Amino acid sequence: MTTDPTLTPPHGDADPAGTAPSGVRRRSFLHRALVAGAAGAAVGAGGVGAVARADDEPVSARPEGHTIAFHGAHQAGILTPLQRHAVFTSFDVTARDRAELTTLLRTLTERLRFLTAGGVPEPLGISAPLPDSGVLGPVVPADGLTATVAVGASLFDDRFGLASRRPRRLRPMDVFPDDDPEDAWCHGDLMLQLCADHPDTVAHALRDVARHTRGLMQVRWRMEGFVSPPRPSGTPRNLMGFKDGTANPDTGDARLMDQLVWVRPGAGEPAWTAGGSYQVVRLIRMMVEFWDRVSIHEQERMMGRSRDSGAPLDGRHETDLPRYPQDPQGDVIPLDAHIRLANPRTAATADSRLLRRGYNYDRGVRDNGDLDTGLVFCCFQQDLDRQFAAVQKKLAGEPLVDYIKPYGGGYFFALPGIRDSADWLGRALLA
Ligand code: HEM
Repeated sequence: MTTDPTLTPPHGDADPAGTAPSGVRRRSFLHRALVAGAAGAAVGAGGVGAVARADDEPVSARPEGHTIAFHGAHQAGILTPLQRHAVFTSFDVTARDRAELTTLLRTLTERLRFLTAGGVPEPLGISAPLPDSGVLGPVVPADGLTATVAVGASLFDDRFGLASRRPRRLRPMDVFPDDDPEDAWCHGDLMLQLCADHPDTVAHALRDVARHTRGLMQVRWRMEGFVSPPRPSGTPRNLMGFKDGTANPDTGDARLMDQLVWVRPGAGEPAWTAGGSYQVVRLIRMMVEFWDRVSIHEQERMMGRSRDSGAPLDGRHETDLPRYPQDPQGDVIPLDAHIRLANPRTAATADSRLLRRGYNYDRGVRDNGDLDTGLVFCCFQQDLDRQFAAVQKKLAGEPLVDYIKPYGGGYFFALPGIRDSADWLGRALLA
């Protein structure tokens, strides 16, 4: 019989009959060691909890990376500065009734609470499957992970008795004149936006969620995205080479966020929606092969900004404000330039501003041999019609449409935040 101490449970309780494979016994010991280390770290004076692993390699039991609070009046991942990686996953809910939908949302909340905090996965029991895929190692890093849960209009059909609770503007995504929707890439009952500092962290989180919610919801479509570092400075660039995100409303201005992003109590919406936000996700293909053959002059006139600096064409620096009243004929910034149509900067259009939070995607090659690249356009707003739909209508037929093709996505409503560890996402909706 082996006498290797790393394979022997220290208290003899995990596998008294010695029937578990040695790997299971070893992992059980490792788990206890890590939990002990985590507890030690928690009571210590802020020191990093390092524990001796079974093979004597020290492992910190404290999750790596920064933690973004999961609890709060609003969900994280909306005002949060862009993390570098994201996965947007749309699910069809397969729960059969309201009780199962409640189980789904409670389970989802528990998993996201753990994943966003990071730590050592709880063992499920000696004969149960392993608690975690292990792809991030024995201690799940926090890694700046945020999880934002939103619901689609189809959740309010007759399955769960929620019809009277549908946010007023929520509906299947409109088809705009330049769209070419592909059903397999559109809509969904539930949207889960996961963002973190590394791609393996978002992939791990999605895999964990899929595992724990199996039978209650099923992936409908999924798109991964990334944000590049600033090149060389300022706002990161999209795959057309332009800085993208420059003119977003200031997320540090709480009053402005109350005017533009959050649904407020008493706004004619169902009471449960207060603190939530309409989320629009649009999958937009970029025909980069064609774009790369367009002159810089033409590209810049389509966008209304200089490609290298990101400055408006009438300015010098990225943060300069375009002065449309001084250019009424569009001699410098054409009247149909993307930024001028999207935000004419008049008093009448001030409340159409929206908060963009998009990611680039690059998915290899399409069937026709074209590079499969684009933008996961994502934005949050208080009112779908007053903001996204109004802006999108103004963009209809803009010169840029020859180089892009929206084909997927959906309209969703990001649930209000949750208060504490007793609260769960969707509680107010299902109350
Ligand atoms: C592939 C598609 C798109 C590309 C390549 C693109 C690119 C850009 C770029 C380069 C800017 C200027 C920098 C900035 O302020 O962020 C910009 C601004 C903006 N875009 Fe887009 N965009 C796309 C789709 C959309 C869509 C679908 C909407 C909304 C319906 C939208 C709304 C806006 C708004 C509101 C601004 C800010 C304008 C301002 O306040 O000056 N964009 N976009």
